[in-house]
Amino acid sequence: MKVAVFGAGYVGLVTGAVLADLGHQVTLIEVSEEKIALINQRRSPIFEEGLEPIIARAMDQGHLSVTSAPETVVGSSEVIFIAVGTPPLPDGEADLRFVRQAALAIGRNMTGETRQVIVNKATVPIGSANLVEVWVQDGYREVHGRVPSNEWYTVASNPEFLREGTAVLDTLYPDRIVLGADEEWAIERLQELYLPITQQSFEPPPEAPRPHGLTASPVFVTDRISSEMIKYAANAFLATKISFANEIANVSERVGADVVQVMRGIGLDQRIGGRFLNAGIGWGGSCFGKDLAALTVTAEEYGYQPRLLYATQEVNRDQRLLVVKRLQEVLKPIKGRRIAVWGVAFKPGTDDLRDAPSLTIIEELLRLGARVRVYDPIALENLRRLRPDFDVEYADSAEDALDGADALILATEWPSFAEIPLSTIAERLTRGIVIDGRNFWDPNAAVRVGLQYRGIGR
Ligand SMILES: NC(=O)c1ccc[n+]([C@@H]2O[C@H](COP(=O)([O-])OP(=O)(O)OC[C@H]3O[C@@H](n4cnc5c(N)ncnc54)[C@H](O)[C@@H]3O)[C@@H](O)[C@H]2O)c1
Repeated sequence: MKVAVFGAGYVGLVTGAVLADLGHQVTLIEVSEEKIALINQRRSPIFEEGLEPIIARAMDQGHLSVTSAPETVVGSSEVIFIAVGTPPLPDGEADLRFVRQAALAIGRNMTGETRQVIVNKATVPIGSANLVEVWVQDGYREVHGRVPSNEWYTVASNPEFLREGTAVLDTLYPDRIVLGADEEWAIERLQELYLPITQQSFEPPPEAPRPHGLTASPVFVTDRISSEMIKYAANAFLATKISFANEIANVSERVGADVVQVMRGIGLDQRIGGRFLNAGIGWGGSCFGKDLAALTVTAEEYGYQPRLLYATQEVNRDQRLLVVKRLQEVLKPIKGRRIAVWGVAFKPGTDDLRDAPSLTIIEELLRLGARVRVYDPIALENLRRLRPDFDVEYADSAEDALDGADALILATEWPSFAEIPLSTIAERLTRGIVIDGRNFWDPNAAVRVGLQYRGIGR
């Protein structure tokens, strides 16, 4: 099938490359010349496990290409994904500027030569499918002086649930594919597009083996508005789960319970489930914060005060700074102390720093007058580029970050940090203080090697 994808970011690039590798004819439409140049060199502009070989293979087979010129692809594409960013505006509302630009470009270049499904894959506020329809009409009208025929296209919603760090696996082996459309032919078209995935009929690529026993991935078909809401509700629920774990952590440590044990204990209940119950410095990343803010704004627009969503966000705001408070309890004063920070990416497996809790923590440490030395296996380059205002030292390795430091804060639980013995951490830190923002280490083991260990909720 001929597919165009607006936006070659985390979502558009992974979706486009995977669909191309499955045999579809995919063209990415991107505005960043830098990204286009990298992709044309068969390199990925983002760090995502297994993605680069898929891009290379799909391009070598002639199934994947990238362009900055929508006019060369829009007219002939049967499915057009809009996967551009929808960042938050200062009031929390989603900024639909890029979606509008993409929709206008689709309208300007629509020819009617083939019937098209325009798909909102980006996370967009409830009702955005209607907006995209209007913008597509505006674009067409600019060129032709009238609106395009209704017969030529329809707008559908197909929210994305991939997780950065496992995006390729999530795209090939999703828990579900949600399709929202008001027209049957659009659903049929999208079902056909995703058939290799829903039937799991493809040969798994070497970089992304199929989970044992998986024989199909379900499709959930619904109306457009419910589909748009599903994405927001899913992220709100996941963020709430983490904030709930943090709420219980804060009570646990006051009464002497260990939140790690508590969450294991409740997670065994199948109604609750054990995932997304890790207490720590809270959630971050490009989606949870902005999607909760957007859902909150939507609720308020319709006269409803979403109290649970307010609380989820409030707990998370406080949680980020808990590690600094912990540090203040054991290291007085913080001014002039050297603090090592391990991990800046908002979670392991990605180089994405958008709304990373580490940034709030580093900001606060600097404000308090600490000297900060940071290490992250892959996100340091992004930190240098995105936060030139941070007066921090960049370490060459995790061990290097510890040298001469009074204390270590763990902000991102990269698995490679587990390879460094706790005894090495104890030897290298001058005061042996470890503030474990992710409950990554066994507190008893840390104490045994002489560390002054503080976790969250234990
Ligand atoms: N990142 C995730 O984990 C994730 C998961 C699910 C859903 N989403 C949603 O998907 C959407 C995209 O997120 P992302 O993380 O991929 O963003 P991103 O910033 O990584 O990528 C967006 C890309 O769109 C490009 N772009 C902007 N305007 C364009 C235009 N007019 N034409 C062509 N390209 C244009 C940008 O240059 C950028 O490369 C957002 O709505 C996000 O909420 C993201």
